[in-house]
Amino acid sequence: MGARIIGTGSAVPPTCLTNADLEKLVETSHEWIVTRTGIHQRRVMTQGEDLLDLMYEASHHALRAAGLRAQDLDAIVVATVSGDYAFPSTACLLQARLGVDTIPAFDVNAACAGFVYGMSVAHSYVKSGEYNRLLLVGADALSTMVNWRDRTTCVLFGDGAGAVVLENQPGAGGLLSVVIEANGALWPLLYVRAGQRQTVDQEGIHDGEWGIQMKGPELFKVAVRALSEVATKALHRAGLSPTDVHLMIPHQANLRILHAVADRLQLSREKVYCNVQHFGNTSAASIPIALDEAVRDGKIRKDDIIVLNACGGGLTWGAAVLRW
Ligand code: ACO
Repeated sequence: MGARIIGTGSAVPPTCLTNADLEKLVETSHEWIVTRTGIHQRRVMTQGEDLLDLMYEASHHALRAAGLRAQDLDAIVVATVSGDYAFPSTACLLQARLGVDTIPAFDVNAACAGFVYGMSVAHSYVKSGEYNRLLLVGADALSTMVNWRDRTTCVLFGDGAGAVVLENQPGAGGLLSVVIEANGALWPLLYVRAGQRQTVDQEGIHDGEWGIQMKGPELFKVAVRALSEVATKALHRAGLSPTDVHLMIPHQANLRILHAVADRLQLSREKVYCNVQHFGNTSAASIPIALDEAVRDGKIRKDDIIVLNACGGGLTWGAAVLRW
């Protein structure tokens, strides 16, 4: 028995922000952004748009692909750090939008590694027999959290949502292993202060601290090491090695990071799925969006070994190994 992904879906906002658009906002260039990150464009939410709408659309597609209705679910888990409310959780809002009640719904906060952390939750629930059918969503809108005057971060991120339906199924397929890890001491490499929180003396957020704070070059090195080491660990736990991998779908942070991870694992670049050029870094949404794209494009076949690995604020990282 194991948790098998039986449906995928994704949604991104219609507004496309190109590198040329960013050249008008900050001192940057298409050439710099492409050379350093591989990103050509990203989708961003605009006034009046809502992350919940994207989560609902992605979930709807995933449920339809699975041939199920929301009423068939046993639990809803959402990986996000950019919900509209401190509470309730975005998962509760999604549960209501999907028109179901009673089943548990909660968020996981592991930033860009959130989807893989969610996979770990799903894996444990299914293995223990607690829940048989879960909706796992990764959704973020980091465009709402960046300082649009900070060229070192605003070129990197985009918005979106991806969803999978996992079901406990007989046989040797599905999720084979999940490894999640964190190193809280590294939190200063990437963080956003809670914008709404004010101290009693109203000091609040200083202008210079608004938005995503990131130490890019240090983060780059940790991300490459963490993404490759945790993928190797998860493969080892599944009794496999990098040579068994058909497709790795890493968190889409930056093309140079993805290529460096491929080189470390001695994987050919064709085996590393990349769509960061179209969407930028969509945080917890990046893996489920890429997975949905890969499934729809017929890039994954039955019994393929798939690795999903991510690293993000916390710092957190993790990897999941699946037999499709
Ligand atoms: N346009 C033009 N110039 C820029 C820009 C920009 N958008 N941003 C920075 N620069 C300048 C810097 O000011 C610096 O100028 P200087 O040499 O005059 O001081 C120069 O470019 C080089 O800056 P570095 O930060 O050293 O550039 P680097 O090659 O490290 O690339 C980048 C920066 C792309 C952020 C890289 O460090 C990176 O990708 N890090 C990982 C960050 C990441 O992926 N974060 C996402 C969240 S974590 C995750 O998802 C894994």
